Amino acid sequence: MAEIPATSQLKRRIRSFVRREGRLTPAQQRALDVLWPRYGLTPEIPLQPQAVYPGSAPLILEIGFGNGESLVQMAATYPQFNYLGIEVHRPGVGHLLLELEKRGLDNVRVYCADAVEVLETAIGAELCQRINIFFPDPWPKKRHHKRRLIQPAFVALLAEKLQPGGILHLATDWPDYARHMRAAVATCPRLVSTDVTARIPPRPQTKYERRGRRLGHPVTDLAYRRL
Ligand SMILES: C[S@@+](CC[C@H](N)C(=O)[O-])C[C@H]1O[C@@H](n2cnc3c(N)ncnc32)[C@H](O)[C@@H]1O
Repeated sequence: MAEIPATSQLKRRIRSFVRREGRLTPAQQRALDVLWPRYGLTPEIPLQPQAVYPGSAPLILEIGFGNGESLVQMAATYPQFNYLGIEVHRPGVGHLLLELEKRGLDNVRVYCADAVEVLETAIGAELCQRINIFFPDPWPKKRHHKRRLIQPAFVALLAEKLQPGGILHLATDWPDYARHMRAAVATCPRLVSTDVTARIPPRPQTKYERRGRRLGHPVTDLAYRRL
């Protein structure tokens, strides 16, 4: 008779996303087929920046980059940094790859996977100078709040991946999520609030942010420094 796994093994972690893939355009499919070997990384292999980027530079991570608009804009404006993106939505990753190719950018690498898994398996401690998470899904219904990406355990994981003095930059257009973010970060003694206006490099406007602003949502930026 087949062995029955323990309940703890059966219990699935609550994810911050639901895979509703949507259709890949032919160009996005081509990008995933052809450009992935150039820009894509796999979570099973621990990241060694010196092996995957052309030059050594401080590393800036963006989690949940959507269609990659802000990531591409920052990477083009600040070639003195290396950028790392993590996103689960394949059409968004395809879109990013096309933009990277179009602009000839080589300081960006990408994971198409759950950020929690990537951080746990591939990203070493104190590897990042900044971590940006812009407009993560708000999961507005109370019963879905447990799906929000920013939770105390995840914040602790982010703090571990930041260098001392490194910055965690969060943005949301949902006041309730901003409160939730502040409370989640407050549980982490390694992170202290810092002046968001002193952020370098500044944050470009994102696609999701434009939508929020059109609907009249107030945008909150939060920045924290790793002790
Ligand atoms: C509301 S969208 C915002 C996208 C983009 N940052 C913007 O502002 O336009 C949130 C994004 O986070 C991604 N996401 C959610 N949970 C994730 C996770 N655990 N790992 C990687 N990406 C995630 C979603 O697929 C989605 O593209």
